[in-house]
Amino acid sequence: MRDYTDVEMQICGVLEGEPNRTARLATVACLLSQAFEDFYWTGFYLVDPEKPDELVVGPYQGTLGCLRIPFGEGVCGAAAAQRRTVVVADVHAFAGHIACDAASESEIVVPVFDGETLIGVLDVDSTRKDTFGKADQVALERITGLIAA
Ligand code: SME
Repeated sequence: MRDYTDVEMQICGVLEGEPNRTARLATVACLLSQAFEDFYWTGFYLVDPEKPDELVVGPYQGTLGCLRIPFGEGVCGAAAAQRRTVVVADVHAFAGHIACDAASESEIVVPVFDGETLIGVLDVDSTRKDTFGKADQVALERITGLIAA
C-alpha cells in the first residue's frame, strides 16, 4: 500500500500562499509523479470553458497525452460525466479506454471540484496491473481537494 503522508505534506507546503490554479495543478502533478515510481502518467484533464462537455489536457508529467477527451469517453470522460472516482485494474478490460501510451496497465481518475463545480480530473496511469485501491482513492481525493483552495 502506498504511503501518501510525505507527499501530501510536501504538496500542502508548496501550495501554501500560491493562488494561481495552473501553478497548483502543476505542483500536484509533479510531486505525485516524483513520489511513486510506477506513476507513469500523472496529470490533469480540465473542463474546457469553451466546450463544457469536453476535457482538455492540463499540466502533467509523463509521455504525450491526448489533448481532448469528450465527457463519457475513456476512463477520464467516465469520471467527469459521473463526477466520481473511477478505478480500473486492467485498462485492456475497460471498454472505451483511450490508450495514449501502450505502457499503461491500470488507472485511477479522480474528479477535481471547486465547491460543487467540476473543474477537471486527475488521471494517474501505472505500468503495473491492479495497483490502485481504496487507500489511493481516499488519498488522491483528499489531495485533489487541495487544488481549488
Ligand atoms: N487513458 C485515459 C486517457 C488519458 S491518458 O491515459 C493520459 C482514458 O481512458 O481516459
